[in-house]
Amino acid sequence: MARDDWDPDRLPDLSGRRYLVTGSTRGLGFFASLQLAGAGAHVIMTGRNPHRLTTARAALRRQVPDAEVETLLLDTSNLGSVRAAAATARGRTGLHGLLLNAGIVHPPRQREVTRDGHEVVFATNALGHYALAGELLLALAAGRGRMVWVGSMSTVISPMELIDPELENDYTPWRAYVQSKIATTALGLEADRRLRAAHVPIASIVAHPGYATGGRTRGIAGINTPSRGKRFLDNLQAPISQSKERGAWTLVRALVDPLAEGGQFWGPSRGATGRPVPATVPRVARDAELAARLWNYCEHATGTVWPYLKASKTKRR
Ligand SMILES: NC(=O)c1ccc[n+]([C@@H]2O[C@H](COP(=O)([O-])OP(=O)(O)OC[C@H]3O[C@@H](n4cnc5c(N)ncnc54)[C@H](OP(=O)(O)O)[C@@H]3O)[C@@H](O)[C@H]2O)c1
Repeated sequence: MARDDWDPDRLPDLSGRRYLVTGSTRGLGFFASLQLAGAGAHVIMTGRNPHRLTTARAALRRQVPDAEVETLLLDTSNLGSVRAAAATARGRTGLHGLLLNAGIVHPPRQREVTRDGHEVVFATNALGHYALAGELLLALAAGRGRMVWVGSMSTVISPMELIDPELENDYTPWRAYVQSKIATTALGLEADRRLRAAHVPIASIVAHPGYATGGRTRGIAGINTPSRGKRFLDNLQAPISQSKERGAWTLVRALVDPLAEGGQFWGPSRGATGRPVPATVPRVARDAELAARLWNYCEHATGTVWPYLKASKTKRR
């Protein structure tokens, strides 16, 4: 990229474009939804709790009164919920982007499984998003859209082998989180290889927000209300952290900048903080063989096989 005049505060006009964001009830997902809606996009805000969703939509509308937003119940840890939400979101017009953001950031101390029988962090952060993207593949192809998977710097700081993705052995909360993010990154890159090979007009990109904390983020009723103690502690980390609003910059740029390309990894310019720029793919997520194995695992675990052939023939709408 020769010249970079991207201004996260002045996005291109996104009127007429439809985006779905997972986990938009707070944090990065809320601010990404806000930034997209502020640029005129139609945003499908999704979340697992109807009350928090309503609160989030109201908070967004207070800031962008004419925002075109709708809400949709979607629990990424529950495959039935993923399928039901996808069936509603497909709509009559294409989808221009999918932000696969929802995540458990503070995993339970002990290993827990979902109703579908999967380890809850892997299910929420990786598996549900694999299924959702597959279920929405035709809508995305119709919109000539893209999907953005949310990775993490933790995959660079704590590289781990992904031999046991559901951590049947040796579960720790940190391991569960990092592994889920390695899986998310590997799936995002593998998706792009598969979509290209099948000539599907969809790009798959991975982006990470750096280190973004609630205590460094402005207060918004019902969305971000950190205690004074949290503000104090988070501000001690000011040199290496940023607000969730800024963290959302990379996710949004990867989703809407025409110059962003499938297979790229985006992050803040200084690693943990800064402007959104292309970054280096973490070493642990570069192994294409491992990614292919993980893909097969997700196919079996979710019963979702991505409809590449149909997607490659889908007409624009
Ligand atoms: N913040 C960072 O520094 C950082 C760094 C690297 C990567 N990330 C990634 O960025 C993403 C968002 O992080 P964040 O900092 O914004 O976290 P957050 O403030 O804790 O927000 C997480 C969001 O995900 C939603 N969520 C959790 N489980 C869900 C489920 N089963 N179904 C649907 N939604 C669910 C939450 O909804 P509820 O309101 O219902 O709980 C919430 O909207 C995560 O994938 C995280 O791994 C964050």
